[in-house]
Amino acid sequence: NSCLTSPPQLRLGIIGGTGLYRLPGAQILSSIEVATPFGAPSGPVVVAHLPGTGNEGPPVAFLSRHGQEHAVAPQQINYRANLWALKSLGVQAVIASAAVGGLTKTHAPGTFAVPDQFLDRTWGRPDTFYDGTVPTGVQHLPAAEPYCPLLRGILLEALAKTGENTPPKATVAVINGPRFSTKAESAALVQAGAGLISMTQYPEPVLAAELNMGFATLAFITDSDTGHDGTEPVTAELVLGRLAEAQPRIVRVLAAVAAAFDDEYLPPGAIPADAVAAVMAGGLP
Ligand code: ADE
Repeated sequence: NSCLTSPPQLRLGIIGGTGLYRLPGAQILSSIEVATPFGAPSGPVVVAHLPGTGNEGPPVAFLSRHGQEHAVAPQQINYRANLWALKSLGVQAVIASAAVGGLTKTHAPGTFAVPDQFLDRTWGRPDTFYDGTVPTGVQHLPAAEPYCPLLRGILLEALAKTGENTPPKATVAVINGPRFSTKAESAALVQAGAGLISMTQYPEPVLAAELNMGFATLAFITDSDTGHDGTEPVTAELVLGRLAEAQPRIVRVLAAVAAAFDDEYLPPGAIPADAVAAVMAGGLP
C-alpha cells in the first residue's frame, strides 16, 4: 500500500509536461510505482527536493505526464491513474507544467501563463472518477472556476518572484491531438475566447478537483500555433526545442512554488469526503 510508505509531509505534486520528464538537478529521495484501480500511471512517482530549495522543506511528488521517455501520446494518457496515484501519496495540490501554443498577442512565445478557464474540445477521454468504474455514487463537479484560485495565486506570485511577467488570466482551448490545428480551427478557437491551445489540459483539472486536490497549470508558450503573428506554424520539433531552452526557468518557478507552499494551504472540497474516500478505496465498502 503506497499510502503507508509515503512521507507524511508529501503535499505538493508536480506533473511534468513535454520537455520536463525528469527534474534536472533535483535530489531524488525515492521512486514509487503506484498501482491504481484505473490502470497504470504514465510512470513512477518520483519523490524529490527541487533544485534551488537547498533540499530543505518537504519534498514534492513528481510524475511525468507523457512517461519518462515521452512514449505516451496526449489522447492515450491515463489521466485518472495519474491523479489517483498523486492523491494516494497524500498530495493536496498539483502544479501541472505544460507546453502550450499562444493564439493572441497577449500570449507571446517565450512567456508563461496560468489559465483560469478552459474550453474542452477533446473527445472520448475518461473524465470522471464517478462513472461506475469503481462503485462510488454519482457526483456533478461544479466547474465555473475549474482551477484552484488559491493555488493559481501562489503560482502567479512565484512567477513574479522569479522575474516572469505573466498575465493574471488565460483561457486555454484543449484539442484532442495528436495533430496540430488548421488555420480555420485556430481562428475559430480565438473567436470562442481562447488565448492558449493545448492537447493535455483536459481532463487533468477536473479529475484533480474530483479528488478534492487543488490544481493549477504552469503553461509555457512555445509557439504561435498556425502563425497568427507571422511566425512559422508550430511543429513538434519547435515545441521540444523551445521547451528545452526554457527548462531552467520552469524549474526555477516550480522551486519558488515549493518554497512558498505551506501548511496554510487548504485544498478545495467540492466533492463530499466520503465519495472521494470511496474512489481511493477502490469502491464503496
Ligand atoms: N502544445 C504546444 N503548442 C501547441 C499548439 N500550438 N497546439 C496544441 N498543443 C500545443
